[in-house]
Amino acid sequence: MPVYCITGTNRGLGLEFVRQLAQSGDNTIIAAVRSLSSDLSDLRAVASPSTHILECDTGSIPSVHAFVKATRRALGEGAKIDYLLNNAGVNIASQQSSLNLGADELQAQMAVNVVGPAKTVELLLDAGLLSEEVRVLNMTSGLASLQLTAQSEGRKCAGYSISKAALNMLTVHQAHDIRKHLWGAIVILMDPGWVKTRMGGAGAVMEPSESIANILKVLHGLRSEDNGSFFHHSGSKIPW
Ligand SMILES: NC(=O)c1ccc[n+]([C@@H]2O[C@H](COP(=O)([O-])OP(=O)(O)OC[C@H]3O[C@@H](n4cnc5c(N)ncnc54)[C@H](OP(=O)(O)O)[C@@H]3O)[C@@H](O)[C@H]2O)c1
Repeated sequence: MPVYCITGTNRGLGLEFVRQLAQSGDNTIIAAVRSLSSDLSDLRAVASPSTHILECDTGSIPSVHAFVKATRRALGEGAKIDYLLNNAGVNIASQQSSLNLGADELQAQMAVNVVGPAKTVELLLDAGLLSEEVRVLNMTSGLASLQLTAQSEGRKCAGYSISKAALNMLTVHQAHDIRKHLWGAIVILMDPGWVKTRMGGAGAVMEPSESIANILKVLHGLRSEDNGSFFHHSGSKIPW
């Protein structure tokens, strides 16, 4: 019974992860949401009997602590997470450029997009909840690539891309550090493509179902030497 833990599952790509994974009764799913008071009807509609819906506001360290305790209770003694998908993310004030960055907006994005995945991994590891061969996927963006951004005509979403570039560096560190504790762990970055969600907008080019099916294929085919890699959902590698 593989155990999947996914953040930001009430809508968008997180919801689609749950929808596809819940189709197999073998999968245990920890479906984390920012707030249990939100409208969770879409999530409840796709959840399987072995899906546990728990609260985790990844922008709040106390909330991540509480989530770790709730995960322990939900999984029961001895069970561990095989796949941790750090999916929750925010893109705030996307019209701001590097010449008018708002400090508050940048900090809010760093809290959710960088500190969130850092603390989620750290606290689940400390609690002994990550399996020896855990796969950790940090959801990033093509906008995090320094090389692609330097080559592109327009520069979009400055604060968001800065925070996702920081997530990329976090991941390189995690990929190294986690193996001091879990010899078989693999930590990767994933660009889901431009997908039709609230964040991606209606002009996006891909349905969530296609992006997530591709991502799951990559995730299930990972090899030890992929640790620390930056993947496109198609399975190709993205330049840093
Ligand atoms: N869609 C794209 O084209 C695209 C492209 C590149 C990368 N991505 C990345 O893919 C991931 C998913 O994006 P999406 O397109 O599904 O975005 P979305 O439709 O805006 O959904 C974002 C999800 O993250 C959750 N979230 C936001 N802040 C949170 C917090 N503090 N704690 C916990 N959950 C929080 C949201 O929950 P609430 O509803 O409660 O706010 C929601 O479930 C993000 O990391 C995003 O950066 C998306």
